[in-house]
Amino acid sequence: MTQASSKQQRDILVTSALPYANGPIHLGHLLEYIQTDIWVRYQKMRGQNCYYVCADDAHGTAIMLRAEREGITPEQLIDRIREEHQQDFSGFHIRFDNYYTTHSEENRYFSEYIYRQLQNNGHIATRKITQSFDPEKNMFLADRFIKGTCPKCKTEDQYGDNCEACGATYTPAELINPRSAVSGATPIEKESEHYFFKLPEFADFLTKWTRSGALQPQVANKLAEWLDAGLQEWDISRDAPYFGFEIPDAPGKYFYVWLDAPIGYLASFKNLCKREDIDFEHFWKADSTAEVYHFIGKDIINFHALFWPSMLYDAGFRTPTAVWAHGFVTVNGKKMSKSRGTFIMARTYLDHLNPEYLRYYFAGKLTGGVDDMDLNLEDFAARVNSDLVGKVVNIASRSAGFITKRFDGELGEVTEQAKLKEFIEAGKELEAFYEAREFGRAMRRIMELADIANQYVNDEQPWVIAKQEGQDEKLQAICTNALNMFHLLMTYLAPVLPETAKASEDFLNAKLDWNNRSERLENHSIKKFTPLMSRVDMAQIEKMLDASKEEMPAATGKPSQPANPEAIADEIEFDDFAKVDLRVVKIVKAEHVEGADKLLRLTLDLGHGERNVFAGIKSAYNPEDLEGRLTVMVANLKSRKMKFGISEGMVLAAGPGGKDIFILSPDSGATPGMRVM
Ligand code: MSP
Ligand code: ZN
Repeated sequence: MTQASSKQQRDILVTSALPYANGPIHLGHLLEYIQTDIWVRYQKMRGQNCYYVCADDAHGTAIMLRAEREGITPEQLIDRIREEHQQDFSGFHIRFDNYYTTHSEENRYFSEYIYRQLQNNGHIATRKITQSFDPEKNMFLADRFIKGTCPKCKTEDQYGDNCEACGATYTPAELINPRSAVSGATPIEKESEHYFFKLPEFADFLTKWTRSGALQPQVANKLAEWLDAGLQEWDISRDAPYFGFEIPDAPGKYFYVWLDAPIGYLASFKNLCKREDIDFEHFWKADSTAEVYHFIGKDIINFHALFWPSMLYDAGFRTPTAVWAHGFVTVNGKKMSKSRGTFIMARTYLDHLNPEYLRYYFAGKLTGGVDDMDLNLEDFAARVNSDLVGKVVNIASRSAGFITKRFDGELGEVTEQAKLKEFIEAGKELEAFYEAREFGRAMRRIMELADIANQYVNDEQPWVIAKQEGQDEKLQAICTNALNMFHLLMTYLAPVLPETAKASEDFLNAKLDWNNRSERLENHSIKKFTPLMSRVDMAQIEKMLDASKEEMPAATGKPSQPANPEAIADEIEFDDFAKVDLRVVKIVKAEHVEGADKLLRLTLDLGHGERNVFAGIKSAYNPEDLEGRLTVMVANLKSRKMKFGISEGMVLAAGPGGKDIFILSPDSGATPGMRVM
């Protein structure tokens, strides 16, 4: 009897949070998708009927405004971003059964359906509220779209409700000289009708649900505090203009993005059910015996553990079996930062490093709890090199060669029964660790086994035996034992290292089958060993960090300027202006930069000495056309290290971008070095 048939197959639906469609996937996001993917691959490997769905979270003001800025429709924007997200995920071997979008007909259907149910049950209220309004753009402004001077420390250009400089929190109304971040206009106060979900009526339900084992203990405790403090009605509507679904019978009112986002889980699954003929009802009806798990980050617990279960319950669906929150990723002990280059995009990582390194590193540090996780890059390199390359792969590379060269690829018989038994038995502990998301403990246990295997090879010294006469059988047995141990180790690591697992199956000419892992590889032919994984080099990591710095916007435009080109940026003092040393310079050389999409390298003659400057003007100029021309540069801008070298200043240019960038050329008569006044 196999171990799988001793238990019934479980029906499991798993989700990760839906990433916003307005930005790229970065290493912080990846913690969640990697964690979920490992858990799902483990369940599938054990033979469970497990589905993993996700989608882009496509609605909201930010996406609408970004599309407008780029001069495309929101639909075009979200299609493009979804494509990018899917490529990033597949690059990290995240294997969804369906990756959809919240801007779908299924999602519109379920959003309207659930809303109607809540309404029929008397759980929707409407009332007028007053909010900030941009009189130029004719739109209401969420807090983060209002900028102004901090009322406490007087730092300018602070967003919404908190100051980045002094940490003060306040209401946008308290900002000095508030401005719309969209148009630069001064916001006014305006009234409009909003729709609310009457969350307080679910206090009893939530008290029970949050204590039902559906949440991690720390999270349940946090929620108990919130419940004690009392619940508030939840504002689920936004006024036009908004990119989302219009609320039925409420023209000009849209569902707030956070209403239809979790419903996107249902919609993505429904879309999969249609395609693969799966019974949707079985998973989502009120008394379902299927299991539903949501993996999320700790920042979105309120949406998943208060609003979402209440909505499902009210609308007659089942509630999640569990919501599992994880902590936040820091890099080298600090919040991910653009200037340090540690705000690392998935794509940048993939350009430089093997995705399985990160999968293993995250797995090694993951627990079932909500603690933050530090990605220390030196530790990352050390762990991958010592564990995966030095321990696991090493076992195979030290024994496979003899089998190929001396035994024509044929394994003999296992002679170390006790050791093999220990390896097989350890699978039981590992099952418990994987199930409980204690991946760190699983990795440590696997590495203990790897140590045992390496110790065995060290003790037996096959390379010595190989030189002795008449010891063929012994040599073959040692290598057979070691490769059987390796086979088990790779079986246990398969959820974390799917590609290396595949390569190992190929080389061992055998499946990695958790449930039938007690079957030994004996009198079995294997293929020639090829290195399964190479070492991480700190130089690759350095390159990745440099590339992360280069990607940050700086080439054209400044982040502190208003998005709307007609709006004028915040006023500055004369002294601020006087600090900028502008000089006429001659472009003596202009060249393409290998590997850079936007940059040209300019050599500028300042009259006395030359400067090397990278300028994001490649889309508008051929280098030849620039040589010999005069332009204006900021001569006292601090040098900046970029991927391709140091940039010593900045040239002034005007225009919206693309083909239309015009470097500023002073009138004839000017000579290099002249001060611009
Ligand atoms: N769109 C919402 C989720 C809707 S779910 C119905 C959202 N999107 S997000 O793109 O901001 O984040 C997606 C997931 O990535 C969230 O679970 C979030 O917690 C997680 N992470 C984003 N940055 C993170 C880190 N730096 N570290 C760990 N997880 C992080 O929230
Ligand atoms: Zn402040």
